[in-house]
Amino acid sequence: MKFGYFNDENKEYVITRPDTPYPWINYLGSQAYFSLLSNTAGGYSFYKDASKLRITRYRYNNIPHDVGGKYYYLFEDGEYWSPTWAPVKRELDKYECRHGLGYSKITGEYNDINTEILYFVPENANCEIHRLKIKNNSNRKRSLKLFSFIEFCLWNAFDDMTNFQRNFSTGEVEVEGATIYHKTEYRERRNHYAFFTVNSEIDGFDTDRESFMGLYNGFHEPAVVKNGQSSNSLANGWSPIASHSINMDLEAGEEKSFIFQLGFIENKKAEKWSAPGIINKTKAYQLMRDFDNDKKVDKAFRELKDSWESLLDNYQLKSGDEKLDRMVSIWNQYQCMVTYNLSRSASYFESGISRGMGFRDSNQDLIGIVHMIPERARQRILDLAATQFEDGSAYHQFEPLNKKGNDAIGSGFNDDPLWLILGTASYLKETGDFDFLNQKVPFNNGKEAVLFDHLKASFMYIVNNRGPHDLPLIGHADWNDCLNLSCFSDKPGESFQVLSNKEDSQAESVMIAGMFITFAPDFIEICRQRGEEELAREAQNYVEEMKEAIKKHGVDENWFLRAYDYYGKKVGSVENEEGQLYIEPQGFCIMGGIGLEDGLARTVLDSVKDRLDTDYGLVLVDPTYKSYHIELGEISSYPPGYKENGGIFCHNNPWIMIAETMIGRGDQAFEYYKKIAPAYLEEISEVHKTEPYVYAQMIAGRDAATHGEAKNSWLTGTAAWNFAAITQWILGIRADFNSLKIDPCIPKNWDGFEVKRVFRGDIFKIKVNNPEHVSKGVREVKVDGTRINGNLLPVYQDGREHDVEVIMG
Ligand code: GLC
Ligand code: GLC
Repeated sequence: MKFGYFNDENKEYVITRPDTPYPWINYLGSQAYFSLLSNTAGGYSFYKDASKLRITRYRYNNIPHDVGGKYYYLFEDGEYWSPTWAPVKRELDKYECRHGLGYSKITGEYNDINTEILYFVPENANCEIHRLKIKNNSNRKRSLKLFSFIEFCLWNAFDDMTNFQRNFSTGEVEVEGATIYHKTEYRERRNHYAFFTVNSEIDGFDTDRESFMGLYNGFHEPAVVKNGQSSNSLANGWSPIASHSINMDLEAGEEKSFIFQLGFIENKKAEKWSAPGIINKTKAYQLMRDFDNDKKVDKAFRELKDSWESLLDNYQLKSGDEKLDRMVSIWNQYQCMVTYNLSRSASYFESGISRGMGFRDSNQDLIGIVHMIPERARQRILDLAATQFEDGSAYHQFEPLNKKGNDAIGSGFNDDPLWLILGTASYLKETGDFDFLNQKVPFNNGKEAVLFDHLKASFMYIVNNRGPHDLPLIGHADWNDCLNLSCFSDKPGESFQVLSNKEDSQAESVMIAGMFITFAPDFIEICRQRGEEELAREAQNYVEEMKEAIKKHGVDENWFLRAYDYYGKKVGSVENEEGQLYIEPQGFCIMGGIGLEDGLARTVLDSVKDRLDTDYGLVLVDPTYKSYHIELGEISSYPPGYKENGGIFCHNNPWIMIAETMIGRGDQAFEYYKKIAPAYLEEISEVHKTEPYVYAQMIAGRDAATHGEAKNSWLTGTAAWNFAAITQWILGIRADFNSLKIDPCIPKNWDGFEVKRVFRGDIFKIKVNNPEHVSKGVREVKVDGTRINGNLLPVYQDGREHDVEVIMG
């Protein structure tokens, strides 16, 4: 069942009924000012950091769902409604929400009054715009009252939810004309405030929640709206809000436009006040002037659209499969940007409070955006490297505002260092900017180093931390945060990620071994590019050693083992009763090249298909754990079929897709791709539940009561990895250190496809033909009509268009 449809022309998903199976949200803003917005106007705003600088309040896990937002109410003759359906939920005659790239447009019509609200964050501005167009579609004059509503958060989101003994006394506002200023804590240590304004005269306002709402009323029945009359309340403590009221007459057919603006202002300490107790509003006035009429707003909106067009233009696909095209050309890239911007901080499943930016997560996010914003990728790599320890280990998380590692979680996740090699290599391949490796970036202890030293430290960390089987020690956990082999937790509430009560653990990870041999070739090539031949040779020897260790100690009967636990017992083996086959090492050991020649890879991937495949994707482990295993940790704490315990963890499915392409099985790779790609799941939205335009982290697995139901949409490494799998490995257009490689592995029945790929300034228009209906193999490549040797496109760097014709066979 569908709840809307894709409009590819506008790059929008159009939701046609408000009661979607879960709030379907969008993200506004992509640099500093961010706003989450659901299809019924729920959500909240923050500046840079959802935890420390939250502008508006949101109530997670509430009843009803999705409470708190950017609400508007219309009042006429004692009746009132919300044009966004929520919060009043009066049934609308027409409803539509268009989620586009960086904006949403919600339209609601009631009793012939049509209201369209365009929500967006303009480029390079610390504010959001809500433009309302209200039209009288009836043939008589109408008298309406419009009420706006937002609720301020007292900045620190956690404190705001917990510290009521203080917070109920601190709230402060100022009102001037049509502008309501929120200045809590500005009198003391904060140098920032927020404001909510409208470009019109107002007939009333409210800034005190209780006066607006009535103490015992919900958002759906504010006292002021019910009475049709603002109370002009001034908040003193309690909960500051901002609401305007505007009375209007609309002739038959007449339309009026109102521009509401929610803004964030930072002042220099010396320039905080214009008079004692009165905030300096100079910058606010300027920001208001920037968007105070329709012409300016239209222009800003066009700029936003143009900016997305040009970002996405770097990779465009025409395959003949519209679902695939919209995933690749629009939505997957969009999700990659959002995920890159926010890491795992703020979504409808991440509260914006508890998690900073993950070292491994952020490095992986880079592979989804480096072709669009290489400059920002570069900066992110430096920020991450700066939190690395001299021995190569890394803080598991870093805090974006102060750019420091997070002490509360510390280090010891032994896969972390390797992801820096992946992130950096992706940047180098995209840009050819090898000079970047000489960039000075100290280690966490302040010791001077260049970026290359960090990569070397990452590589050597794995070499220097191997266990009894010569496989990498796992530490707290590897990519699978929930496989905790070095702590035994028996107290409720203990953090599996932080607890370390088995300091002498020699538990080993076959997955890290697989990652090591997968990323090592890039490290070695980087050494060579720098003329470090000896180091390259040495590194190659370590790779051979690791491959030997995997072959000797990392292979079970028909697949790769997962790990060795604290006692040196196998994890992920037929010898185990539960948890016999794990997905992660199967992908990585094959990506690292093991089993490609002797048929092992094929056997392994057949086992994966046999044991892990379901209608909705590949589960993480089989059989799932039915009871708690203290020696394995959090994975066995989840009920069977959820999360790491045999859920379909969409982040790792692409590793199998890539492995399939390495043995040439394009049909199988693409079948796995389609199973979890959201556009292909649109029709079963009532089962899948989360947005059909973005990936979710997890879909409930075979053993779950709710098999097929997704959770945790938007912020997940799934976005970047699926983009890599489809664009680089299935379509096979892959940046290499000195060229763009063409190496598709597609379903046999495809006749071909076309890709536009901007690479180092060159615009390659690539046409792949598949006359013999093969999956893999490139017979001929012509660039601008001339045949080239092999399948590596030269780098012209002339900024021109180049026609590339590829014949498979
Ligand atoms: C989450 C975490 C990621 C981890 C994965 C598997 O997506 O953000 O770091 O690798 O779960 O546990
Ligand atoms: C990851 C995992 C989740 C785990 C969490 C701990 O997000 O997906 O299952 O609880 O990490 O930080």
